[in-house]
Amino acid sequence: MGKLSGKFAVVTGAAQGIGAGVVKRFLEDGVDAVALVDLNLEAAEATAKELDPTGTRAFAFKCNVANPQDVERCFAEIIAKFGRVDILVNNAGIIRDRTIIKMPVEDWELVLKIDLSALFYCCKQVLPGMIERQYGKIVNMSSMGFMGSHGQSNYAAAKHGVVALSRVLAKEYAKYNITANAVCPAAVATDMITAVEPELLKKKMAAFPRCRPAEVAELAAVVSFLASDDSSFVNGERMIVTDGRMCL
Ligand SMILES: NC(=O)c1ccc[n+]([C@@H]2O[C@H](COP(=O)([O-])OP(=O)(O)OC[C@H]3O[C@@H](n4cnc5c(N)ncnc54)[C@H](O)[C@@H]3O)[C@@H](O)[C@H]2O)c1
Repeated sequence: MGKLSGKFAVVTGAAQGIGAGVVKRFLEDGVDAVALVDLNLEAAEATAKELDPTGTRAFAFKCNVANPQDVERCFAEIIAKFGRVDILVNNAGIIRDRTIIKMPVEDWELVLKIDLSALFYCCKQVLPGMIERQYGKIVNMSSMGFMGSHGQSNYAAAKHGVVALSRVLAKEYAKYNITANAVCPAAVATDMITAVEPELLKKKMAAFPRCRPAEVAELAAVVSFLASDDSSFVNGERMIVTDGRMCL
């Protein structure tokens, strides 16, 4: 018996990085079943197989979370398979950094769609069932980038929106025993930051107390807390996970 036993979960952007780490942790914490939702089905299937070799608790689903019709189709498939969704982790996200003048409108719109609108689409699919059963945990991946960094107008606007959306979810649905919280890491050791040029990364990490990014498992532990009943009275929060770098 783990702290997530008896629960059915969905994690978006679960093929790799933080999402895959969250799936791993959910399985360790005893979740009954978890859906790995990703644009990249092949990678999601490989991750599901690696984390759950028995093939009985982790299942991959292809979906472009930026497309509301595709989200509706995908969640209908998940609910048909699992019967219900108790936990939703809205994690899929991308960056397309440029200063405002140089940023193509398409990059502004794409990041807003994947990093913000997608969360609204996914929440709409699970909220009716959660309200009916008077139970739900929603964890939304934001970023310290919500504070606004050079070259990240699209990302900052989206991730600030994620914090605001989480607060609205908390206010609208707390009475149905549904919590929604945002997680704000600054740097996590995934492809998103290992793609940064090593010298620049070293310079950036020097600003962190322990001069390193968070390990994926350190983030997954926070998500698992917010997805479990241990956080029953934590609602509408933005959980800052930066090793003290961003003490405000
Ligand atoms: N890594 C960091 O340092 C860091 C810091 C702060 C916040 N975050 C946030 O954490 C989340 C995960 O980041 P990561 O580093 O694991 O990223 P990643 O690039 O390693 O993984 C992202 C996953 O999302 C999937 N994805 C992308 N677009 C999608 C779409 N339209 N539909 C479905 N799936 C899609 C990708 O296929 C991939 O599997 C993101 O929201 C990111 O903004 C990351």
